[in-house]
Amino acid sequence: MSVHLSQQGAGAPSNILERVRQCAASVTRYPLDILTGDAQLEDELGIDSVKLAEIAAVVGREFNLPPERLPRGGKARTLGAIAGLVTEVLGESSAVPARVVPVPVPAPPTVVPVASAPRAGPELEARVRAVFARVTRYPEDLLTLDADLEDELGIDSVKQAEVMAVLVKELGLGEGPKPAVRPRTMAAICEAARALMPASAPLVAPRAAAVHVAPAPLPLRTDLPFAGKVALVTGSGKGIGRVIATRLARAGATVVVNSFHSREDGEKTTRDIVEAGGKALHLWGSVAQEEHLERMFSTLVEQLGGLDFLVCNASNGLIGPFDRISPRDWDKAFRTCITGTYECAMRARPLMAARGGGSIVTMSTSMSQRYMHDLGCQGVVKAGVESLTRYLAAELAPEGIRTNCVSAGPVHGELLGMFPDARERVARWESATPGGRLCTADDVADVTELLLGPKTQRVNGAIWVVDAGLSGTVDGLLPAARPS
Ligand SMILES: NC(=O)c1ccc[n+]([C@@H]2O[C@H](COP(=O)([O-])OP(=O)(O)OC[C@H]3O[C@@H](n4cnc5c(N)ncnc54)[C@H](OP(=O)(O)O)[C@@H]3O)[C@@H](O)[C@H]2O)c1
Repeated sequence: MSVHLSQQGAGAPSNILERVRQCAASVTRYPLDILTGDAQLEDELGIDSVKLAEIAAVVGREFNLPPERLPRGGKARTLGAIAGLVTEVLGESSAVPARVVPVPVPAPPTVVPVASAPRAGPELEARVRAVFARVTRYPEDLLTLDADLEDELGIDSVKQAEVMAVLVKELGLGEGPKPAVRPRTMAAICEAARALMPASAPLVAPRAAAVHVAPAPLPLRTDLPFAGKVALVTGSGKGIGRVIATRLARAGATVVVNSFHSREDGEKTTRDIVEAGGKALHLWGSVAQEEHLERMFSTLVEQLGGLDFLVCNASNGLIGPFDRISPRDWDKAFRTCITGTYECAMRARPLMAARGGGSIVTMSTSMSQRYMHDLGCQGVVKAGVESLTRYLAAELAPEGIRTNCVSAGPVHGELLGMFPDARERVARWESATPGGRLCTADDVADVTELLLGPKTQRVNGAIWVVDAGLSGTVDGLLPAARPS
């Protein structure tokens, strides 16, 4: 006996639909009330095929569905349809008495017994997490199974391929059909691995997770302007952040270097500072993830006891015209630049207040107030950063905390190389800049250092433009004129 259910899953018991909605919410982070049973997942809710596959995997785990019965195609167009499929499969294994419409079928389908479907579930998941932790050197407790590897954990496709190579070897995975879409979570990888694992694959305990680089115990040089100060610079493994971190260390501060996607760069910057006689601590983590920040700030307090300066330098924003910017890009840019800056500032606040005050510098682009071709995503989000700066300045001032913003123009380095026709554009920007030269990372670091330090005690809520005058001109910001 099988069951027939409508596309909207009208026959699915409400508790199953509820659990399916919870699964979808955990993957998409949408509010539950918009995840209705009959909304079209792709067309109405904008859940793309990658996320759909993740939802299918999570639903599969939640209800112990055999891999070949995971919701796909028409069975996965709405949450109601998914709930219907779940009810159908559970009905076949007589696990749940559902309010169903029975229909006769010519031959009963082959059903994998629920108990034997997810072979080595928790052990496999533990093993996959351990391998991820070992290869990426992430703390294991941050490697949650449902986190998006790229967006939430910052594990790029190259690192993922490295992990997969180790997994294939260690789990003895056999050949099998390649998944249509690259799995985006560890949960989805476990799902795929299950199908390829030999029956007797040995599972061993995961190894210990990585540890932070400890600050070097150096004597305090009291003659330096920032001696005794602790400064956190987010996104400082490379680029402008690295230059700022190095500059503050030279001025005597103990610098907390933070990196996320480029862990090795952060560690190298930290090593370089220490080798040059400075004091630095590397903290890996994303400013866009609350649990990462929680961990970073508690390690900072544990190891350094407090905070005086915060530079919110970390940034993420797609370079390209509006028709290439997806909601996901906006979300990433907003979470990194706005939520990340806000969360860092709010965590810094009590630490600075406990020391009688402190100073925060946020980072913007002067193109937040102008149009520059291909900089729409960053320009818009950075306009928000400037506004956030003013609000933080007002709200944190009673605790002796100043908040200012450096709004930089194009600075030679990795970011400029990401623009299409980078060489030609840079030449155009240079010729449009009064004086003919763009700013350098050192120019940005000069102003950051000034805004953090005691010489700007009465400067608060200010947006200081550092772009060599480019944004004051009218040339250079539009795309090159097309030949007629
Ligand atoms: N370069 C320019 O021409 C220019 C012009 C105007 C303003 N700015 C601003 O100046 C700042 C530095 O710019 P940049 O060109 O050196 O680099 P960028 O490419 O704009 O910023 C990338 C930095 O942010 C870090 N980052 C990205 N996502 C992160 C996350 N979730 N958590 C923690 N760190 C994260 C990156 O480190 P990981 O790879 O380790 O994640 C990297 O260090 C940015 O705020 C930028 O908007 C730059």
